[in-house]
Amino acid sequence: MSTLSISLPGGTWALGDLTVTRFGYGAMQLAGPWVMGPPADRDGALAVLREAADLGITHIDTSGAYGPHITNQLIREALHPYSGSLRIVTKVGAVRDQEGGWPPARRPEDLRRAVHENLRDLGLETLDVVNLRLGDAQGPRSGSLAEAFETLVELQRQGLIRHLGVSNATAEQVAEARSIAPIVCVQNMYNLAHRQDDELIDELAEQGIAYVPFFPLGGFTPLQSSALTAVASRLEATPMSVALAWLLRRSPNILLIPGTSSVAHLRENVAGAGLPLSDEDLAELDEIGR
Ligand SMILES: NC(=O)c1ccc[n+]([C@@H]2O[C@H](COP(=O)([O-])OP(=O)(O)OC[C@H]3O[C@@H](n4cnc5c(N)ncnc54)[C@H](OP(=O)(O)O)[C@@H]3O)[C@@H](O)[C@H]2O)c1
Repeated sequence: MSTLSISLPGGTWALGDLTVTRFGYGAMQLAGPWVMGPPADRDGALAVLREAADLGITHIDTSGAYGPHITNQLIREALHPYSGSLRIVTKVGAVRDQEGGWPPARRPEDLRRAVHENLRDLGLETLDVVNLRLGDAQGPRSGSLAEAFETLVELQRQGLIRHLGVSNATAEQVAEARSIAPIVCVQNMYNLAHRQDDELIDELAEQGIAYVPFFPLGGFTPLQSSALTAVASRLEATPMSVALAWLLRRSPNILLIPGTSSVAHLRENVAGAGLPLSDEDLAELDEIGR
């Protein structure tokens, strides 16, 4: 892979025995509107993926539910055969319905099917990391993950999955998963304005487990805050740059997976995440989510 990865902001992180750049790419935005169907600009979507690889990004986040299947197929078309350093992290545990909803699908047979579909669509024999997606579209929900997680552990033993993680999980579910098998990452909603996982992030950092915030830029609702705008204009930067740079500074175990369907935005985000923030900037930004 490109030596350019050295200049990506944030350096690298180890997901178990797999090294990834802390600046990654979330591929969800590559599917059609509301993550259903094919993209309006197929060549543009393929170009974003190739640009991510050319920039030296070695962590792509995806799911068979994006499209469904579309995003994984685009990744395969753009990047297969994959570079030896590229790591594709996927998630199972939800499917799509006719209305574009995300109903849970966490019975053992659902999970086995999803893992095999990911392998097929991505053109892989082993998935680098599989997150068990819990909760629902409204957020985490309490309840045991044992049966579902044990199913993934079984698939891991069969050699179909290298490492496991959980997503949209409560702290109790993270602890329950860890009591069953090692995990390398937790992927939950978190950004400058949504700080509900602050404590969990610090605990995971101590354990060497990555925390991967989804919606780092606010997702479908861009982050809006007068304090963020003030810091951004003082630094002559965009609010998106400040939000990403803040996440990289927040904790060493945070991995970025901002989503975009635009090559220009991808480049902007890579450059923006490296924005230097002073202690004064950080103090001001810290107040947003308090
Ligand atoms: N585990 C889960 O349940 C879960 C849930 C949601 C997402 N995810 C993962 O997390 C990743 C990130 O989340 P996300 O993509 O939904 O949200 P996000 O990264 O917070 O924001 C993406 C949005 O920001 C816009 N954007 C990005 N860079 C921009 C820039 N420089 N200037 C202006 N607009 C910009 C994108 O539009 P453009 O396309 O126009 O750039 C898109 O609308 C996803 O790709 C997915 O892999 C996981």
